[in-house]
Amino acid sequence: MACKLEIEPTGDIVDIQEGQTLLDAALRQGVYLPHACNHGLCGTCKVEVLEGEVDLGDASPFALMESERDDGFCLACTATADEDVVIEAEIDVDVDARSIPIKDIMGTVVKREMLTPRILGLWIELDEEIDFQAGQYINYHVPGFDEPRAFSLANQPSTGKVIELNIGIIPDGEATPWIHNNVKVGDRRKITGPFGRFFVKRSAQKPMIFFAGGSGLSSPKSMILDELENGCTQDITLFHGARNEEELYYADMFRGLESKHENFRYIPVLSDNKNENWTGEIGFTNDVAKKIYDNQFAGNKAYLCGPPMMSDACITALMQGRLFEKDIHTEKFFSRA
Ligand code: FES
Repeated sequence: MACKLEIEPTGDIVDIQEGQTLLDAALRQGVYLPHACNHGLCGTCKVEVLEGEVDLGDASPFALMESERDDGFCLACTATADEDVVIEAEIDVDVDARSIPIKDIMGTVVKREMLTPRILGLWIELDEEIDFQAGQYINYHVPGFDEPRAFSLANQPSTGKVIELNIGIIPDGEATPWIHNNVKVGDRRKITGPFGRFFVKRSAQKPMIFFAGGSGLSSPKSMILDELENGCTQDITLFHGARNEEELYYADMFRGLESKHENFRYIPVLSDNKNENWTGEIGFTNDVAKKIYDNQFAGNKAYLCGPPMMSDACITALMQGRLFEKDIHTEKFFSRA
C-alpha cells in the first residue's frame, strides 16, 4: 500500500511505494527535491524527518554523519518509508523550472558517430517523447552496470522522439569505454529522466554567455538551439574550448547559426593549436573571455559546462569581472565514468 510523503515548506504531498526512495517518489510525481549523485554519496539531498520513521538505506557515513542521523536527518536518495512521513527540505524556488515528472522510457539506438576522436554521438529514438527543459540530463542504463550513467541531452526539446547524447570516453572509466566499444545501431536501451536544474533562466532577461569544454558542449548546444528556435532576442555568446581542431565539434553548425542570427556569437578557442592556418582564438576560454569582454561581465548570465579546471578558471574570471555568483550557473551532477 502506498504511504504519503509530505514535503515542507512547500506542502507538496506525493505517494511513496514500498521500497521506493523519497527522492524517486517526489521526482516521479513532478516535485523537485535537491539532488546530485542519487547514490547516498554527496549529501545534496539531505532532509529532516519531521514526522514518521524512515529506513536510512545505504547512506554514506560521510554524506550523513552519525550526529545528523541522531538529529533526524536522512538522505532522500537512499531513504525509504513504510509509513506516512513529513520531511523538511531546503528548496530554492526557481521560477524558470517546470514541473516535469521523471519517467523510464525505452528507446532504440538509430545512429552512432564519432564526433571527435574521444566523443561519441548517440542518437536514440524513444518509444515515447520525453518532455524536458533544454540543459537537463537523463540517466542511461548500461547493461552489466548497476548504476546508470548521467548524460546531458544534446538535442533541443523540439526534436521529438529522437534524443542525442555526446559521450566522452574516460579511458580508465568503466561504462564510457564499454559504451564506445559496444553500443550499436538497433540496441534497445532504457533511459530515465529528465533531471537537473541547469537551464536558461529566461525570467532574468539578460544576455547569455556559455562556456563549454569537451563533451560539456551537450547542454549549451541544446539550450542555444532552443533559445534561437524560440525567438530569443537576448545576445548569446558561446565560448567552446578544445585542445585542437580535431576536438572541436559542431563548429560548422555554430558558424551557420552565427551567420543566420545576429544575436548569436560563436568563439571557438584552441588551447594546443598546431595549425598555422587557424585564424580563431588560441589559449584558454577564461582568458579569451576576459579579453573580449574587457574584464566586465556584469549584466550577463553565465552558463558553464565542462571539465572542473575550465569551470573553476571561468568562474574566477567572471567574478573578478563583477558577475555575481547568482548569475553564474553550472551543471551539477555526479556520474561515474
Ligand atoms: Fe543523495 Fe547525493 S546523497 S543525491
